Amino acid sequence: MQRILTGIQSTNIPHLGNILGAIMPAIELSKNSHNECFYFIADLHTLTSIKDAKFIRESTNAVAATWLAFGFNTGKNVFYRQSRVAQVTELTWYLNCFTPFPMLANAHSFKDKSERLSDVNSGLFTYPVLMAADILLYDANKVPVGKDQIQHLEITADIAKSFNHKIGESIFTIPEALVDTKVMIVPGIDGQKMSKSYNNFINIFLPEKELKKVVMSILTDSTPLESPKNTDTCNAFKIYALLAEKNDVEIMRNNYLKGGYGYGAIKSEILGLILKKFERERTTFNHLMQNPHLIEKELAIGEAKAQKIANEKLMVIREKLGY
Ligand code: ADP
Ligand code: TRP
Repeated sequence: MQRILTGIQSTNIPHLGNILGAIMPAIELSKNSHNECFYFIADLHTLTSIKDAKFIRESTNAVAATWLAFGFNTGKNVFYRQSRVAQVTELTWYLNCFTPFPMLANAHSFKDKSERLSDVNSGLFTYPVLMAADILLYDANKVPVGKDQIQHLEITADIAKSFNHKIGESIFTIPEALVDTKVMIVPGIDGQKMSKSYNNFINIFLPEKELKKVVMSILTDSTPLESPKNTDTCNAFKIYALLAEKNDVEIMRNNYLKGGYGYGAIKSEILGLILKKFERERTTFNHLMQNPHLIEKELAIGEAKAQKIANEKLMVIREKLGY
């Protein structure tokens, strides 16, 4: 049995990029009977950038509803809110005391955020230590993450090794990042990487009329309808190709190369694909968002499981540290 663990911050409703790039592949991994998956909502990490309780609560529900709508099996696996297993904050403190200051000061993500953001708080600085605690508390073996998180996994492994070396070999399992190089980068409606921070995302859960507006606003060039079009540079084509069946992508490629096919037509196809492909998920998501007690019920089951494991692990660590 392999223990796989990953978290997604509750910074908004997950968009098409988060879903295709992180949530769907993670759910695929969880279907393998050799994997036991711990998937959680990193709502404590969210506080480093967002201080709005209502927004955090709604985003947390939306992230949870997305995992559930896409079929994450909460019976076989462990699904929880980071904040509800408060043991992680105790472990964070212990790990902080084993983390060399320069290691955090040199982290790319901290340097980048501290240059960009006006609120450079200490939580941003110790962000990787909380992430290490998330992972080490549950002895995770594999951690699926995007490329930008690889350094955080290296920091986690370094902290774990230092702790094991000073306090007791094999207290912590050394985790490995699982970076799927095949995972696509989903482009946003403006052609840059789709991201909440660029406000270029497609929220697939929007009502049809609003979704249509977003899809129709996908940026395309001014090649006239009758001319052949470039599939390599066209954003709408790239989004279409991520959603459509292989055969249909080839047909669309021909439409582009032949000319006489307009951008309005491909955008209508994209809208149709989203509505058809995610019909069940859209319905389930909206049902869950209107009935948050159903989300709460699923999370509570996972949180009880997670707390039990976390308590056992902390007992060992406290004892080793002299508490
Ligand atoms: P955002 O950039 O929208 O804030 P996050 O950093 O919260 O997204 O990412 C959450 C997860 O979704 C990560 O695993 C990340 O690798 C994945 N992800 C985010 N944007 C994309 C994208 N455009 N294409 C593929 N995967 C993405
Ligand atoms: N930092 C991760 C991100 O922004 C989210 C996260 C928090 C995480 N704790 C984690 C991911 C533990 C994997 C494991 O994407």
